[in-house]
Amino acid sequence: MDEAKLHEFMGRLVTDMGGAAMIANVILGEELGLYRAMADNTPITSEALAAKTGCNARLLREWLSAHAAAGYMEHVAGQFRLPPEQAMALALEDSPVFVAGGMAVLASLFLDKDKMVSAMRGNGALAWGDHHPCMFGGTERFFRPGYRAHLVSKWLPALDGVVPKLEAGATVADIGCGHGASTVIMAQAYPASRFVGFDYHTPSITTATQRAADGEVADRVRFVQATAKDYPGQDYDLICFFDCLHDMGDPVGAAQHAYQTLKPDGTILLVEPFAGDHLQENSNPVGRLYYSASTFICTPNSLSQEVGLGLGAQAGEARLREVFREAGFTRFRRATETPFNLICEARK
Ligand SMILES: C[S@@+](CC[C@H](N)C(=O)[O-])C[C@H]1O[C@@H](n2cnc3c(N)ncnc32)[C@H](O)[C@@H]1O
Repeated sequence: MDEAKLHEFMGRLVTDMGGAAMIANVILGEELGLYRAMADNTPITSEALAAKTGCNARLLREWLSAHAAAGYMEHVAGQFRLPPEQAMALALEDSPVFVAGGMAVLASLFLDKDKMVSAMRGNGALAWGDHHPCMFGGTERFFRPGYRAHLVSKWLPALDGVVPKLEAGATVADIGCGHGASTVIMAQAYPASRFVGFDYHTPSITTATQRAADGEVADRVRFVQATAKDYPGQDYDLICFFDCLHDMGDPVGAAQHAYQTLKPDGTILLVEPFAGDHLQENSNPVGRLYYSASTFICTPNSLSQEVGLGLGAQAGEARLREVFREAGFTRFRRATETPFNLICEARK
């Protein structure tokens, strides 16, 4: 037993335990509007924050102190301040780095622990719709800041010839659309095009339909309950998979259906969690987040469906290329990337 290594590992565990406990506090603060109440970066006492938010002052002092200890806030002479950088991540919903809303996904990991125990001891299946409902809205809010920041400005322009088609008026399918964040963002950017989002989870389709109305694009956007292998329509110019192909039981079958419903010169936009091809390349902060979430969410969902391929969220570009090659596509390339996403293009 190497005592130095033990100390080093215990230090990492205590850091992670504190991190996990902080995430619970972030979820609390987000739901209660505490960060938004501090978004002006002005120092505030726990009593003043209590008066502003209607929350209990003593509990707020503990919550604020946790934030000061974690470096999430500054603390001077009894006053706490949320610095502008932390406000971008925790308070400002429209910021490209807003992460507080997506933390609900992490809450669902704990809330669904008993279901995961059963899945682990059984056939490995836990379907998307069987998770705690906080996962659905959390997923939307986890991904939306990235789509807002990159989808229209960088990802679509990285595809060969797609933007001119969208500007002229294209027909687009968004498969596994969830709450439709990507669909609505694209529809708002390209008013001449028509969009249809498909997802097999009926409550998500209901929410997505509401999002289209809220986003004032309901005249050109429809959401329909369907699986990735049976959605209707033909001759789509663009078929998108945003952070969902690896969740499916039969990604090859989904890619085959996309092949059959795509125009001959159409394009597949595949957005997947960023990953290298091997565990060694993914042994980093983003990789551990995605492998951990994939254990609870993506892989058991895949195992709950026919074929049950279980790609996992860290499949990597080489495995994804293989899926599209098996489905008949002849061209596949990485169009661009972010620290969180691989953006790939497939053509017939
Ligand atoms: C991680 S979520 C991503 C949702 C959305 N694309 C986004 O980026 O916010 C995965 C989605 O895939 C959907 N899904 C999983 N398997 C599916 C299948 N076989 N057919 C259609 N949708 C599926 C789930 O219901 C869920 O909404």
